[in-house]
Amino acid sequence: MHGTLQSNEDARARAYSLPLEDINVGDPNLFFTDSHWPYFDRLRKEAPVHYCRDSEFGPYWSVTKYNDIMAIETNHQTFSSDSELGGITIRDSRPDLRRPSFISMDQPKHGPQRKTVAPMFTPTNLDQLAATIRERACLILDNLPRNETFDWVDRVSVELTTQMLATLFDFPWDERRKLTYWSDIATAVPGAGMVESVDEKQVILEECGAYFKKLWNERINQAPKPDLLSMMAHSEATRNMDERNFLGNLILLIIGGNDTTRNSISGAVYALNKFPDQYKKLRDNPALIESFVPEVIRWQTPLSHMRRTALADTKIGDKQIKKGDKVVMWYVSGNRDEEVIENPYEFIIDRKRPRNHLSFGFGIHRCVGLRLAELQLKIVWEEILKRFETIEVVEEPKRVYSSFIKGYETLPVRIAA
Ligand code: HEM
Repeated sequence: MHGTLQSNEDARARAYSLPLEDINVGDPNLFFTDSHWPYFDRLRKEAPVHYCRDSEFGPYWSVTKYNDIMAIETNHQTFSSDSELGGITIRDSRPDLRRPSFISMDQPKHGPQRKTVAPMFTPTNLDQLAATIRERACLILDNLPRNETFDWVDRVSVELTTQMLATLFDFPWDERRKLTYWSDIATAVPGAGMVESVDEKQVILEECGAYFKKLWNERINQAPKPDLLSMMAHSEATRNMDERNFLGNLILLIIGGNDTTRNSISGAVYALNKFPDQYKKLRDNPALIESFVPEVIRWQTPLSHMRRTALADTKIGDKQIKKGDKVVMWYVSGNRDEEVIENPYEFIIDRKRPRNHLSFGFGIHRCVGLRLAELQLKIVWEEILKRFETIEVVEEPKRVYSSFIKGYETLPVRIAA
């Protein structure tokens, strides 16, 4: 069993009573119980580059301030994403199960693979997708129950993002929930509910690989079309990927497009309930959706961190980092850095520079799907505002047990008749 929600005061007292060196902000339980905030507040003030000597992830550095994170993001020559060195999350993958994808590759391999899928996310292509997204969003929203409690995560966030993903891959429509399942499995922490062991996880992901391999074989024999599988099957940079790289890129695209957007769609409802004055402001002026969307993505921070490995001895702030050290960039903390973002804990839908946040990362790996994510949120909120006066959160959400994916398992809501 994991911990229960602590009161803000309890979490704060605990965060400030621990010796600094004993702080382990990577503990998934802190995120599950939403009690990670005071730990990061303390680190930003007292040890912005902090070393955790011992944890379930081994030793690691935590970088918690906005500008220090930016300095790492933009220095890919020194800070590697390579899966062979551990990859991009605080948890090292088991060496025999490593699956390189372009998010966990350095130059020169990263660029060409990224370029292969990038055309999917250009403004012109997204303009074409917008009508489909809107049509599907309308259908989902029109079928929601009234005057009855239901789970927003399952009925709206998961459904909408899964449909989008199925479109991007041109995946068999009736089987699209497989994508949701694989995405959840790929990010599941063994023992926390979905899978018992890494081996069990591996078996399921291999089923995912086999399913996609079948689709791949079909696409490679067809003329090129604008879906992610076909794009990879017909590109020089990705046509001859080995099995591990193939599965790695698939999982990247499935998770990239799924959990993150899903949790932003849920986070938007939750944030507006926490800040009812902002909900009113949005209802009174739907044009604010333009700045509301990036504010949701900052406030939610759907991925708490990305990790790098130092390729050489170097310095971050005043701390000496050794070659081979694991460095975790906590976006969740950088997005609450009061030196860069005014009133960072407040959800303010008309901020002057709403895109001033770290949620999409920066540098060569900056999220390739960010425009699509923003577009989905924009469309769904345009349609929500046309239909419903208020979506009321009736119970606190159940959160994901992870210090990587920051999101919601369930969000019980009600919409008045
Ligand atoms: C709100 C939604 C999203 C968030 C918060 C998010 C966040 C991120 C972050 C933090 C990174 C790594 C950046 C870095 O290391 O500097 C990333 C990379 C990536 N994202 Fe997203 N993402 C979102 C939506 C999407 C969508 C919709 C897709 C595609 C369908 C996508 C596909 C990818 C891919 C393929 C990469 C790897 C890029 C590279 O290595 O060059 N993401 N995303």
